[in-house]
Amino acid sequence: MGEDRAEGPGGLARNAATYGDRDFALYLRRSFMLSMGWSREALGRPTVGICDTSSGLNNCHRHFPELVRAAERGILASGGLPLPFPTISVCEPSLSPCSMYYRNLAAIDTEEMLRAQPLDSVVLLGGCDKTVPAQLMAAVSANIPCVLVVAGPMLATRFEGERLSACTDCRRFWARFRAGEIDAGRIERIEGKLATTAGTCGVMGTASTMAAIAETLGFTLPGTAAIPAVHADRMRAAEASGALAVRLATERRAVRPRDLVTPESLENALRVLLALGGSTNAIIHLTAIAGRAGIRLDLARLNRLSDETPVLVDLKPTGEGYMEDFHTAGAMGAVLRALRPLLHLDVPTVTGETLRERLDREEGSFSDPAVIRPVSDPVSPVGGLVALFGSLAPRGAILKRSAADPSLFEKEARAVVFASLPDLAERIDRDDLDVTPEDMLVLQNAGPKGGYGMPEAGYLPIPRKLARAGVKDMVRISDARMSGTAFGTIVLHVTPEAAEGGALALVRTGDRIRLSVRERRIDLLVAEDELARRRAAWTPPPAALRGWDKLWQREVLQADEGVDFAFLRPRGE
Ligand code: FES
Ligand code: MG
Repeated sequence: MGEDRAEGPGGLARNAATYGDRDFALYLRRSFMLSMGWSREALGRPTVGICDTSSGLNNCHRHFPELVRAAERGILASGGLPLPFPTISVCEPSLSPCSMYYRNLAAIDTEEMLRAQPLDSVVLLGGCDKTVPAQLMAAVSANIPCVLVVAGPMLATRFEGERLSACTDCRRFWARFRAGEIDAGRIERIEGKLATTAGTCGVMGTASTMAAIAETLGFTLPGTAAIPAVHADRMRAAEASGALAVRLATERRAVRPRDLVTPESLENALRVLLALGGSTNAIIHLTAIAGRAGIRLDLARLNRLSDETPVLVDLKPTGEGYMEDFHTAGAMGAVLRALRPLLHLDVPTVTGETLRERLDREEGSFSDPAVIRPVSDPVSPVGGLVALFGSLAPRGAILKRSAADPSLFEKEARAVVFASLPDLAERIDRDDLDVTPEDMLVLQNAGPKGGYGMPEAGYLPIPRKLARAGVKDMVRISDARMSGTAFGTIVLHVTPEAAEGGALALVRTGDRIRLSVRERRIDLLVAEDELARRRAAWTPPPAALRGWDKLWQREVLQADEGVDFAFLRPRGE
């Protein structure tokens, strides 16, 4: 239902019923809106939605009520009619089987509400991992003028002499707890210190990475991706975004989401992702966002970019700092200025400025080289992520080399296979598990169609008996994802996945696997006739019976297509 918005704001008349008596439909709509207490003058203004993803189950968004108020302020002061509305809130730790299982549901909810309601433009409020990808996917599909305000990161907390924030630290302490290095009392005290303010995880995890990518793509006001959630500037960003949304509502040729998502802007986003040492999940989300614009993100291209894009940002989980350090160090402006020679500069942003104009305007602004390094002195001369191909992953797999142990990069070893997540949970900590530190751990059936929605299970725990013996890292391979806050030599997103009958489904304990990061390869060293026998005996997972499970199983695409639904792609294929 393409709609020509070139005529300017439609206000409440936008999308009024196209059947029957249109005047009556509008009369009815206005009379019900009057019952909200608005004046007739206000109801004649351009309509600006505020898409609010707060919920009592979403700690990361607990400050959204004040951001909604700030956006409303900006909209009213600029002559718009602010109309906040809820969409589902996808909070990382609160959803079962995993939040990824509901990203596409959030994208559907958002897209349809953007399209169905009488909105001239929208302020999108998102933050926690899946919310920003869902909103950007929706925005590209609905293609109405949108400006994104992210939640902003939480602050770190001081605890017994060190700073703690979110799950890079929670994983670190939990691994030490598993290894018997810290006791139950201490792990409980730490539990209360990991997330102490509103906002998204305070490291360069998925939420922070996606916020940075959203700013790079031009969906946010410049300089706003990393403002801490509780900072007054965060509210001012929401107010200014409300004002911008009114401008977008009234401009005849306002910038739209599909103007922002182009091959050039996506390449910039990949560069930024690499330079941040950002989350592996961002590859999937960016692939899905690009897919909504009919653009295919090529993993081979990612490898070429990775070889020529340095890691500049020294933040956890790959480095030292927290997001608040990134913010005070110059944030995305500093990163984009450092990367400037590598970027496409003539891409638009939602403000109407091109990236070149923004960077020219910010020339000479502060940047702290301790957190955001210059290209001449990078954290690493090459990018944080690489794609691997080979007989085990013909359509690709991802390794976050910046968070991995280079001594494991060239290795041939025995596979120790777990057939499913329950199998992993059952056996990983058994003392009689046949495993040595030299083995590679393989997890099957944790991909998109594996029944759990591609959870962040790729960070397989080190088997307890090895952890107790001091083993900190092993090669781990799966079709699952990994939290952006995790680290280790972990091969993820193996495609096609096991539940789709990919080669990963055919691996057996005792097989040899060869990993070569240098050659960008991951191969299963088993003879073809043996693989053919195993393939013939393979059976797909049982069919889901109803509801969301059934829709998901029928429609979900593989990791190299962004784990989007086939019917949500531009031509519904
Ligand atoms: Fe929401 Fe980490 S739990 S961003
Ligand atoms: Mg996360």
